[in-house]
Amino acid sequence: MRSHLINTVNANFLSQIETLKSLVSIASVSANDPENVRASANAVAATLSGAGLLEVQLLEVEGAHPAVFGHIPAPDGAPTVLLYAHHDVQPPGRGWERDPFTAVEENGRLYGRGSADDKGGIIMHLATLEAFEGAPPVGIKVFIEGEEEIGSPHLPEFLEEHGELLNADVIVIADAGNWKTGVPAFTTSLRGIVSCMVEVKTLVAAVHSGAYGGVYPDALTSLSRVIAELHNDDGTVGVEGLLEAELQNLDLTEEELAEGGQPLEGVHVLGTGSLTSRMWAKPSISVLAIEAPSVDSPVNAIVPSAKAVVSMRIAPGQDPQVAMEALISHIEASAPWGAHVSATPKESGESFIIDTSGPAYSVFRNAFSEAFGVDAVDMGVGGSIPFVASFSEAMPNADILLVGASDPQSRAHGPNESVHLEDLRKSCLGQVLALYDLSTS
Ligand code: BES
Ligand code: MN
Repeated sequence: MRSHLINTVNANFLSQIETLKSLVSIASVSANDPENVRASANAVAATLSGAGLLEVQLLEVEGAHPAVFGHIPAPDGAPTVLLYAHHDVQPPGRGWERDPFTAVEENGRLYGRGSADDKGGIIMHLATLEAFEGAPPVGIKVFIEGEEEIGSPHLPEFLEEHGELLNADVIVIADAGNWKTGVPAFTTSLRGIVSCMVEVKTLVAAVHSGAYGGVYPDALTSLSRVIAELHNDDGTVGVEGLLEAELQNLDLTEEELAEGGQPLEGVHVLGTGSLTSRMWAKPSISVLAIEAPSVDSPVNAIVPSAKAVVSMRIAPGQDPQVAMEALISHIEASAPWGAHVSATPKESGESFIIDTSGPAYSVFRNAFSEAFGVDAVDMGVGGSIPFVASFSEAMPNADILLVGASDPQSRAHGPNESVHLEDLRKSCLGQVLALYDLSTS
């Protein structure tokens, strides 16, 4: 049976790559393209029901992008596994060497927005359905969300209105990645995230910069000083009172880090402690956007107001509300020269630490190690998947596994995103073998 499954997964993979290409061609940007997100939901629904998933439907909640749901009931006595991925993507952003929504295969990778994050995750679940030909040895539920990349704002409502549908013994979230190309990983911690809008005002309106320069501060200089206070000189976060940890296990060298991170020559690595601790277990701050007069049309005037979006990743276990308050009071306290500085909360997402002691864990670990021919590792990630905390609260007894086919070269959220196709195939195989082994363990 196992060798039959292995052959089936391998035989089906080529057509699944074609499916991935067609999913990537739909620009399902949840931030600003609701029609394409809906088109994507319909395409995912059609694909999954073609693979034998039953009662496939779009799950709707007022004001939300649709999610896709379907199921296959568990054989008597077998556990039920919920398979999660998301079909929405980040906006393409700048810097692509090709059309972001035309998937292209090159050097063993498939390029395109969403190829890794997270349409590759959908393919893992499709491959699982196809491998078992409509009769899996465990119950399967598939939930493909449409608004993960905007922070899953309606997940509480989805859980309230459709929570019964989602109940499961094991939850597999295919939205993380592997440690290195060819090295499978289970993600055991996620950072949380908080962000705020900073607004700086110094004048009622712009005035001549020759007439009043030297007496009144401009808002951009004032905002720059506020932003400069966010970090200490060594690049560690300047906000006081936040949780942080120093990890002991897995680390990487600055050279290995640079393979995925693309730093320019001479640019320093920030922070202190092991590199993995800095990325996975300590807070970090990035300024995501600034609103200011365009450099295309400067005016010789004192800029009266400016805005910035400041985003802070928080350590696993850090309470987002406490972190938000710390960030906001730090920003407001750093107002220079009497400038009016206000910070208002935007996003807020929970961190998560995964309990790896459940019975499903060793089954998955062995199956993925077999599929890759390399021992699986446990790792943290610096990114956030805020709904994991809500899932865990709604289903406190379920084992949660965080997997995924992306690797450090995947460049999720950046230009030229891609997935390593061999790793995707191995991830599909790992998941199929794991579900089979779950049913016999
Ligand atoms: N797949 C990522 C999370 C992730 C990042 C996993 C890096 C593994 C490594 C997820 O889709 C994501 O990007 N989440 C957002 C959440 C935000 C919108 C609240 C993020 O982290 O920016
Ligand atoms: Mn994702």
